[in-house]
Amino acid sequence: MAIRQIRFIGEDCLGKVCKPVKQMNDRMRTLIEDMWDTMYESRGVGLAAPQVGVLRRICVIDVMDDDPFVLINPEILEMSGEQTDDEGCLSVPGKVASVTRADYVKVKSYDMDMNEVIIEGEGLRARAMQHEMDHLDGILYGERANEPYRDLEDDEEIEEE
Ligand code: NI
Repeated sequence: MAIRQIRFIGEDCLGKVCKPVKQMNDRMRTLIEDMWDTMYESRGVGLAAPQVGVLRRICVIDVMDDDPFVLINPEILEMSGEQTDDEGCLSVPGKVASVTRADYVKVKSYDMDMNEVIIEGEGLRARAMQHEMDHLDGILYGERANEPYRDLEDDEEIEEE
C-alpha cells in the first residue's frame, strides 16, 4: 500500500492530455493499486492518474454503490439526460461549484487484464465518470461549472473526485 501525493490546481500535470495505456504491466498495476489507496485515504469517490502526477488514461471510481471500478483508456459511447449538482475535486481542496452533466453515460473501457468492457452509470456514478474522464484531457470541473468556485462551508459535505 502506498499513498501518492495529490497534485493541486495550478500544477502543470492537471492541464495535460494523458497518454493511453498500451499494455498492463507491473508498473501500471502498482500505479492503480496506489490510486485506490490514495483515493480511499483522501475519502474521495474518484481519482484520475494525472491527480497523482502520472499522465496516463486511468481513473478509479467508487461512489459507494458496491461497484468500484477502474477505467483504462475510457471512451464515451453514449450520453443522455441532464443533472445539475455541486461538485468537488481532491485537486481543488475546499472548493465547490455547480456543474451540469449528462445523467447517463455508457463508456467503453478496459479492465485490469486489458479486456474490453462496457461500463454504464447514472446519477452520481455518471457524474464521477465524466469528472474523472475530463481529468484525462486536462480539464478541471471549474471549466465546466455554472459559476466560479465557491468556498466549501464548514457544515457542508461534498463528494470529491
Ligand atoms: Ni477531480
